[in-house]
Amino acid sequence: MQTATTLDMLRNVLAGLRSGGGSVALVPTMGALHEGHLTLVREARKACDHVVASIFVNPTQFGPNEDLDAYPRQLVEDSKILEAEGVALLWAPGVEAMYPAGCATSIRVNGVSDNFCGAARPGHFEGVATVVCKLFNQVMPDKAFFGEKDYQQLAVIRAMARDLNLACPHARDIVGVPTVRESDGLAMSSRNRYLSPEDRTNAAALPRAMQAAVAAIEAGGNVGETLDALERTLLESGFSSVDYAALADAQSMAPIASYSSAPARLLVAARIGGARLIDNLPVDRTK
Ligand code: PAF
Repeated sequence: MQTATTLDMLRNVLAGLRSGGGSVALVPTMGALHEGHLTLVREARKACDHVVASIFVNPTQFGPNEDLDAYPRQLVEDSKILEAEGVALLWAPGVEAMYPAGCATSIRVNGVSDNFCGAARPGHFEGVATVVCKLFNQVMPDKAFFGEKDYQQLAVIRAMARDLNLACPHARDIVGVPTVRESDGLAMSSRNRYLSPEDRTNAAALPRAMQAAVAAIEAGGNVGETLDALERTLLESGFSSVDYAALADAQSMAPIASYSSAPARLLVAARIGGARLIDNLPVDRTK
């Protein structure tokens, strides 16, 4: 595996990779890799000849009181993991390579970004859309792989690629990979390491309560009442607050107050101990 830390290095290594032909996949990450990331890499390897992984803790997607400084950074360990997974190129720019002085452009995807994490974390999705668009333009991959764990993020990135007519990758080549879960159902996340052992045990209430809510909505239960019950369960199970518990259209991310049958997503963000956990599940009465 080769590692590039500047744009010139990245372009040289990519030119070498492409000279032999074959397709290129991009797996963007912020590092602190876990099994969820490795699943993205494995899917990317199945789909394309060369896999490029990026590790960049993107400051523009963190709010002023968020965990940018505390966010785990372990480049040496991550690099060994990616090499063992057959990644051809690790793109690990510093902040100055990604945002040179004077960088003044940002991308806002209206609508899909407005609610849920967009409302709870002002500016977050502008930071994500901007850095992902830059990563796409830097690497120009044939396909890009993202976890469905960050479902609203995936919807924002797909909408951005469609609206800006991106060619590399085309919106249809942005691949969402199902969430990888621990044995008790908790979605894997780099932020799970912020949990104390007790909070980690209690955190499993989140996927359990969400599964119960999905079953209730699919069975015709009232959406508002089901979401209220979900929030109550989380607060009784050790969560200190719930940022949101909502049902949304699976593509537009528009909130749904009364469910009929269109593919939807149950989305939750809730705080326990020092961590803000997010999760989502599909809701589909036709399945
Ligand atoms: O999901 C993440 O790890 C980040 O939001 C991403 C997509 C790498 C952009 O910084």
